[in-house]
Amino acid sequence: MVSRVIPVEDFDLVIFGGTGDLARRKILPGLFRRFIAEQMPATSRIIGAARADMDRAAYQTLVRDAIAEFGGDEKEDTAGLEVFLAQLDYVAIDAMGDKGWDTLAGMMRDNVVKAFYFSVAPSLFGDLAERLHRFKIATAESRIVVEKPFGRDLESAKALNATLAAHFNEDQIYRIDHYLGKETVQNLMAVRFGNVLFEPLWNNHYVDHIQITVAETVGVGGRGAYYDKSGAMRDMVQNHLMQLLCLIAMEPPSQFGADAVRDEKLKVIRALEPVAPHHIVRGQYDANADGPSYREDASNPKSFTESFVAIKCHIANWRWTGVPFYLRTGKRMKSRVSEITVVFKDLGHSIFGDDGATHRNILSIRLQPNEGMDLQVTIKEPGPGGMRLIDVPLDMTFADALGDDAADVADAYERLIMDVIRGNQTLFMRGDEVEAAWAWTDPLIAGWEARHDVPKTYDAGSNGPEDALLLMHRDNRKWRDIKG
Ligand code: BG6
Repeated sequence: MVSRVIPVEDFDLVIFGGTGDLARRKILPGLFRRFIAEQMPATSRIIGAARADMDRAAYQTLVRDAIAEFGGDEKEDTAGLEVFLAQLDYVAIDAMGDKGWDTLAGMMRDNVVKAFYFSVAPSLFGDLAERLHRFKIATAESRIVVEKPFGRDLESAKALNATLAAHFNEDQIYRIDHYLGKETVQNLMAVRFGNVLFEPLWNNHYVDHIQITVAETVGVGGRGAYYDKSGAMRDMVQNHLMQLLCLIAMEPPSQFGADAVRDEKLKVIRALEPVAPHHIVRGQYDANADGPSYREDASNPKSFTESFVAIKCHIANWRWTGVPFYLRTGKRMKSRVSEITVVFKDLGHSIFGDDGATHRNILSIRLQPNEGMDLQVTIKEPGPGGMRLIDVPLDMTFADALGDDAADVADAYERLIMDVIRGNQTLFMRGDEVEAAWAWTDPLIAGWEARHDVPKTYDAGSNGPEDALLLMHRDNRKWRDIKG
């Protein structure tokens, strides 16, 4: 199979925060991969914009080093790297002053797509947006890309939306949630809406419950200061897990278009019921031989911030009423696994006597690692000795099924940046979606703050706190094993 890469239109992309961590780790190596894949026109330009005084050659060196450190196999193409670097430029700019803006205005070309990536603190969004207009750099067709965190509650998210809306229309604003750029996340929609097999069963008549797990092995490490003000709920649930929940639960949109998809996602978020306190478990990892405790990482010995959270929630609509959704995410857990599992109901009647009733179909969609799906089906245990049933997985690991094409999939960031250039907002969060997600999250956080809830300690390298296991055991259910 040969991948089809469709080149995008010619563009000028300005990366504010062009020397920062995200630019060096993700954005620039990602753009280089798209360049090597021949998706980026040879005339396109990437302009780094940041506070540091440096010239174009110094910026090219910075990007060369970033690609050497964070790039993949494509960095072996040294001739390609030189051509890519030649497409880069740099401007030293003061986001809150006037320095550099006229220079930037002079660098931009007419008649190409203009995109501005705000890879900076949200407190600077307003300054950048205002100057892009005052210096006549942005036009009505220009696009801006903003990163999470998009606010820390409903009020701040509304304020950010208002700041951006003062200068840009909603169809110019691309709010990134990099989970939406992951290959398997998009596959969720293909599986649900491209097959006749699953959709008839995708409701409370056939589904017992749904689990979403995003487990990480890393701790908060060097990000302790940011993380301690955020916690797993704000850092992961309000955005990434919420997006997964939407894609798994939404009604079929009438077409795969930006507003059609986002309208359906919004309905899911708005239908989420408030969560009772005993359906929330928060945890903090302890120290072990491999690393310090959460409180040490956060340099806050009295921190009440959660590095793990598990939630049982419900969606109040016809399709899902009565079906619990169990979400959990945490740092320093046993393995790095992101997975969505749909557990179907028991058979209504088993012709095999007691044995048949204990077997269930389970569809599990693995986002990372080993992207793929498996469907647990019940079959006869081979051999003589009567009719005994066993469960076996129908395993579809994409790397096995698709060969090299699976290995060649674009990273979330590069895919999303190319979508910005194409003008496709389907995989970006709309302002109302973000606000609705905060509107659901805020009372949960306010609730545990008011209760002075203390997170439960859990062993680093484990499945999280014991109480998270009980959350399911109480319902006679259990979490899937976290295995990488
Ligand atoms: C980020 C969070 O948005 O997502 C991090 O801020 C987290 O805390 C990361 O580690 C996880 O992303 P991925 O792609 O590694 O699953």
